[in-house]
Amino acid sequence: MTQSSTPHTLMQINGRHSCAIIQFQKGAIPTWRHYGARIQHTALVKKWSDTAIWRMPNSSMDRMDGIPLLPCFGNGVMHVPALLAHQDGRDAVQELVCQSYEQNNTDSTESLVLHLADNTSQSQISLAAEITLTMHRETDVLSIQTRIINSGNSVLQLDKIASGVVPIAAHLSEVASFHGLWAHEFQMQRSPLGRTGWQMQNRQGRSSHEHPPACFLLEPTTSDHAGQAIAAHLAWSGNHQFSVDPHLSGCCLLQAGEWFAPGEVRLTPGDSFEVAPLHVSWSDKGLNGASQQLHQHARLLVLQWHNGSMSPRPVHLNTWEAVYWNHDLPVLYELAERAASIGIERFVLDDGWFPGRPNDRSGLGDWWPDPLKYPDGLQPLIDHVLKLGMGFGLWVEPEMVNPDSELFRQHPDWALQSSGRDLQTSRYQLVLNLSLPEVSNYLFCKISHLLSQHPISYLKWDMNRDLAQAQNAEGRMMYRAQVHALYGLLSQLRQAHPNVEIESCASGGGRMDWGVLQYSHRFWTSDNNDAVSRVSIQGGALRLFPLEILGAHVGPAPAHSTGRAQSMDFRCAVALFGHMGVEADVRKLDDAQASILSRWIGLYKQWRHVLHHGRFSQGQTANGVWWMVQTQDQTIVGVFTLDHPQSLHHAPIRLPLMFASDSTQWCVRLLGRAGHERARGEATTLWLDALQADGVIYTVDELQHLGLNVPNMNPESALVFSIEACNPTYP
Ligand code: GLA
Repeated sequence: MTQSSTPHTLMQINGRHSCAIIQFQKGAIPTWRHYGARIQHTALVKKWSDTAIWRMPNSSMDRMDGIPLLPCFGNGVMHVPALLAHQDGRDAVQELVCQSYEQNNTDSTESLVLHLADNTSQSQISLAAEITLTMHRETDVLSIQTRIINSGNSVLQLDKIASGVVPIAAHLSEVASFHGLWAHEFQMQRSPLGRTGWQMQNRQGRSSHEHPPACFLLEPTTSDHAGQAIAAHLAWSGNHQFSVDPHLSGCCLLQAGEWFAPGEVRLTPGDSFEVAPLHVSWSDKGLNGASQQLHQHARLLVLQWHNGSMSPRPVHLNTWEAVYWNHDLPVLYELAERAASIGIERFVLDDGWFPGRPNDRSGLGDWWPDPLKYPDGLQPLIDHVLKLGMGFGLWVEPEMVNPDSELFRQHPDWALQSSGRDLQTSRYQLVLNLSLPEVSNYLFCKISHLLSQHPISYLKWDMNRDLAQAQNAEGRMMYRAQVHALYGLLSQLRQAHPNVEIESCASGGGRMDWGVLQYSHRFWTSDNNDAVSRVSIQGGALRLFPLEILGAHVGPAPAHSTGRAQSMDFRCAVALFGHMGVEADVRKLDDAQASILSRWIGLYKQWRHVLHHGRFSQGQTANGVWWMVQTQDQTIVGVFTLDHPQSLHHAPIRLPLMFASDSTQWCVRLLGRAGHERARGEATTLWLDALQADGVIYTVDELQHLGLNVPNMNPESALVFSIEACNPTYP
């Protein structure tokens, strides 16, 4: 560790391919010199500061600063402020300047801690901040952690503090983010930034279907495989704001952080307040390059597996679309038996098992088995499931309460509400105020009791509404406190039951972020199990999260969410690229359908070590998309045709393979197929037959530059290939 306070110090922290360079000058605001490609030698940057090169323009302030790391309000740094604080409407001008810094390196990180403070002697306000920038060498993810300290002796109102501010060079002039809604998550949209910038705000109290907390900054020419990209992700499951605004230097500044409701954050003297971390990652290998770095980071540093490593992801049967709330024991027994016979490994009992739950209008909050549906409790069903060789999982929605429940009748004051106003229900439910110790304690005891009494190894933790009227009894907004209390409850349960895995669900993918992922093991990506819809939903989610944590289920045909029907093979091929499961009444499958499903489940088991540990890439074809996961010597590729072909023959698919092995011959085999070729004669059938029988030999060059040859297929078709070394020479 080095301590310094010398003027004009440049500090560089390095990833493998990227770096951040910060300029520190005691008494001046901290500034950015660079974020992007790793710079080996910085002759110019060392000698010349930005402000020495710039000339004072007309119609500007008589001060000149570099590119600010924490633009403040009212001090003449004319940029969107990253910090807004005041004392009951007074003393809103701030200027946080450099005091000292520390540089710390470990085997895997290079980090920099900047200590900032307001240097005024006039203001009643005294604020300090600590910004920690940590570059993770292995993953090329830069994590920014900001802490704000009220070092004065009056109470401060904090209206805004960005988690991080990052310079976006002028050539990264496009932004991609995700829009969505229930059953239609992670739809990527891309647009030019323009001269007025871009912003996204989420006030729904959870990460949301509409505005998941992430974006990418791109060159106009950045594709899936090439060009520069910066990914940004806020590890936070509540309200947030992102903005990219032009800076007077010609670059833009990306800011991301929590969004505070009016009056939500007050700092009493001596309070130190840390906001959710912002993670950014730069790549020059296109969107896939940036995503792969995020995947790697989530695998290495976010996910916390019991005993330190992920066990093979078991195939799920989730009962929701099979029986909804109609829990009838003989039916559930039969469902479990059929599930086990087709290869299912974990049986998850969804909504409907607790009292007063014939539909979604009542019961939430009463977390014990319904004595009518389960006269001897849950144990007989669990025993049955375990005897069949499967694990048992249970659905809960702890943060919620129905007004029609024992819990609400006893504790109407436990729900977040605005006194004097009508209760704002959503799906007939209210949100419990988890910040009340008695509420969190009640939930901990109820869930912990279930987990202690029964061999339950999995919880599907749901959260089916946005927050509104998120006020406590004193009328204070509790959005932020609610998220922290949730993290606290999850963490307490994880400590008490370390072998239990948790799925984060919020009406499908309404709460998917690295904040909640520290305490969970899987996301329920979407309530939409229509396989055509799923291609864009899973493809979008895969831009941010690794494949093994994205729940992907084979649903019924027609799909309950869209009414569209696809073949069993197609539904299976799409669900293969995720944490595979089934969400259908498998009792009703005829033998032919059951055997198709069983064959794909077998394929999943055979390939999950590649699917769940490999490097994922995606690309577009004229008629659909392809997904590829590769390890050192094995690759699996899915080619999905969604629409009518654009040409009479399918263009070969050029695969950006990166094999560590120097084997030159690669055998491509057809592992699975859904749908029919569009062909008159035998020729293409011969080709697929050859791929299916012994496979076809390619070199890596051919696969990369000539491409993998595939026939035109009908809409809603899929081809799944393996690529394996024929003469491996790897160690
Ligand atoms: C939400 C979930 C579904 C299911 C239902 C149960 O919609 O996303 O998967 O668990 O709740 O009510």
